[in-house]
Amino acid sequence: MTHFPRPHYHFTPPRMWLNDPNGLVYLDGEYHLFYQYHPGSTVWGPMHWGHAVSRDLVNWQHLPIALYPDEHGMIYSGSAVVDWNNTSGFGEKALVAIFTYHKDSNETQNLAYSTDKGRTWTKYADNPIIPAPDLIRDFRDPKVFWHEDHWVMSLAAGDKILSFASPDLKNWEQTGSFGSGYGSTEGVWETPDLFRLPVDGGDESRWVLTVGVGNGAPAGGSGTQYFIGQFDGRKFISENPKEAILWADFGADYYAPQSWIEEPGGRRLMIGWMNNWQYARLIPAGEWRGGFNLIRELSLQQTRDGIRLFQRPIPEMQNLRGRNHHWQEQTIQPGSNLLADVHGSALEILAEFQMQDAVELFGFRVRVGANEQTTVDYNPKERRLFVDRTHSGIIDFHDGFAAIHSAELDPIDNTIRLHIFVDTSSVEVFVNDGLITFSECIFPAEGSQGLELFVDGGNIKLCSLDVFHLMEGRITG
Ligand code: FRU
Repeated sequence: MTHFPRPHYHFTPPRMWLNDPNGLVYLDGEYHLFYQYHPGSTVWGPMHWGHAVSRDLVNWQHLPIALYPDEHGMIYSGSAVVDWNNTSGFGEKALVAIFTYHKDSNETQNLAYSTDKGRTWTKYADNPIIPAPDLIRDFRDPKVFWHEDHWVMSLAAGDKILSFASPDLKNWEQTGSFGSGYGSTEGVWETPDLFRLPVDGGDESRWVLTVGVGNGAPAGGSGTQYFIGQFDGRKFISENPKEAILWADFGADYYAPQSWIEEPGGRRLMIGWMNNWQYARLIPAGEWRGGFNLIRELSLQQTRDGIRLFQRPIPEMQNLRGRNHHWQEQTIQPGSNLLADVHGSALEILAEFQMQDAVELFGFRVRVGANEQTTVDYNPKERRLFVDRTHSGIIDFHDGFAAIHSAELDPIDNTIRLHIFVDTSSVEVFVNDGLITFSECIFPAEGSQGLELFVDGGNIKLCSLDVFHLMEGRITG
């Protein structure tokens, strides 16, 4: 196996295989991050919940495995809550994990609890809390939160997301069902999340339902879609036309995302698995395989096309900023490279461009080396943003990997804003304040550290450009 170096500032497991984030909850100064984990191999296998905590969302500490598979099955994805009112009777301030047991083709919903801030866990004696249904095989990934006077669970069931309600986390009643023909239906629906956000920061709000779809995403394979609508505590209703598909990301590597609950600032922060089921088990790795995307802060904004989800990197990332290069009000000509002297594999780029008529294509090439680069560029005539990883480094491990991904995008007041994060094995792009995002794994040679700013067809106006060298995020334990 190719031995690939660790990322500088993205989370990876101590060793072996990782997939979905699970049980994201904040308690007493700690952000908990549990995750689908196979400690016995660098490919998927009997699932455990791995565990890490952070006080600042940038530096992480690995903790011992939280949940082990047992005679009832593997521990699939799920969520965790703080039971402030001890509704479950598990104890003062108990952390309660709600997860799926998977055994043969049976999936049931279950509880485990911790009264020592997630350090040790006990599985509930009367599991399962929701038995396997007769006719649905895919019945998993419970996301639970407290809503006014009861617990709410969103659960993936084949091509639907079901809603359940409970007074005590133990007894559940089904209250709603959404899906069956809405949005993207090509793949199985998995890992739902449901939360409310204000629109444009005001008094009006909407509910957002995010859903992982196992296949048929814009960049191929698995991806994440979302719906915007209403939720009355029992039932989600989408406001979008049935056939509308809203994608949370246009790159290939943003899957099974989940948001933290109990976030002390009231923010909605989301993290995804930076991988794709198409080739997840084949990506170059080291003694571990797979990691997470940057954490994103979510908001809703009214756009010309309706209300849309905006995703920005969390401001905490600014704590990693080191040396900086700054330019403003420059005219960039074809054939030039303003960034010829800037190199790195841990970079943050913020750029604002103003369109001019003759421009055919402009953007950045990152991780540039001999015969390799990853290109992020915009074509004003096609009104599309592209990320091209066909020459990004190691690409031959799967036929679907080397591709150009793209999304339709209109300039705002003739302006395009790009916010790009480059790491050892990834590029993440946030466009126009997070209306469009791309998450992409890439596997360039370590020495491919060049950076280019280019334009074709005519001059473009660069209003401002900042390039920061980013420091390492610490992962201890
Ligand atoms: C999503 C998923 C979940 C499941 C888990 C198993 O990536 O398929 O639906 O719970 O992975 O590891």
